[in-house]
Amino acid sequence: MTMTAAEFNYIRRLVLEQSAIVLEDDKQYLAEARLLPLARRAGFDSIASLVASLSLKRFDGLHQKVMEAMTTNETSFFRDFHPFEALRKSILLELIANRASSRELNLWSAACSSGQEPYSLAMLLQEHFPALNGWTVRIIATELSAEMLARAREGRYSQLEVNRGLPASLLVKYFRQQGSDWQIKDDLHFRVEYQILNLAENWPLLPPMDIVMMRNVLIYFGLETKKKILSKVRQLLRPDGYLFLGGAETTFNLDDSFERVQFDRTICYRVRKA
Ligand SMILES: C[S@@+](CC[C@H](N)C(=O)[O-])C[C@H]1O[C@@H](n2cnc3c(N)ncnc32)[C@H](O)[C@@H]1O
Repeated sequence: MTMTAAEFNYIRRLVLEQSAIVLEDDKQYLAEARLLPLARRAGFDSIASLVASLSLKRFDGLHQKVMEAMTTNETSFFRDFHPFEALRKSILLELIANRASSRELNLWSAACSSGQEPYSLAMLLQEHFPALNGWTVRIIATELSAEMLARAREGRYSQLEVNRGLPASLLVKYFRQQGSDWQIKDDLHFRVEYQILNLAENWPLLPPMDIVMMRNVLIYFGLETKKKILSKVRQLLRPDGYLFLGGAETTFNLDDSFERVQFDRTICYRVRKA
């Protein structure tokens, strides 16, 4: 049961309007694969009847579910590993020295999916920076998808998920087993703050940031959206703060007020000094 071009266009428009995610022509198969199970669960016998129903009513929970189904939520603990090494070996040492008087650090995991990234940051700080005890350290995790944010907030992961990137020593230290899943322990859990945030819309008030991890999300947006988001990041980032993007993303040709900084295998970005 394939979608018609009109049905796919309807879905594309909905997803673009609600998330800024651009679904290219070759993503029709993906829409079919993700929306058919959703249609069935919602009581429709086909994507055609789902789309017909959506197009007749105002935006509601079902539209939201369709939009969320078209997001890609791939993530893992300590994803790519080397950005966390750069944080551990260089960047955090530098920032901690720079903030010795304010004793305040703000880290933002923007588009945190199911939460592995903010918890990786929390573990990194806990493991390697005891000097931060007594500081005000905020790890803010935001996401467009309510379902993903709920998963992040819950902090419960399957065996498969903890097998991806999480060293066994950290698993036993920071998680407790619950049935076949692993639940993050309270002390780490409470170190992360969660918020719904659509990067393509107005942002709620956020504190000035020392570290922004905005990885593997800009790739889904069009050029103008990427530019707008980067310009807002620039205003939020402290002058000596760092922005991390995903391996396939860059500020190059989008916002040249950022400069590239390389730490071993990691490229990150800082606001260029005037
Ligand atoms: C591939 S995951 C990346 C997760 C994590 N940053 C990482 O690198 O492992 C992309 C995430 O971006 C979120 N996303 C997509 N569009 C968004 C938007 N407009 N605002 C905020 N988050 C968005 C998706 O819901 C998804 O969870």
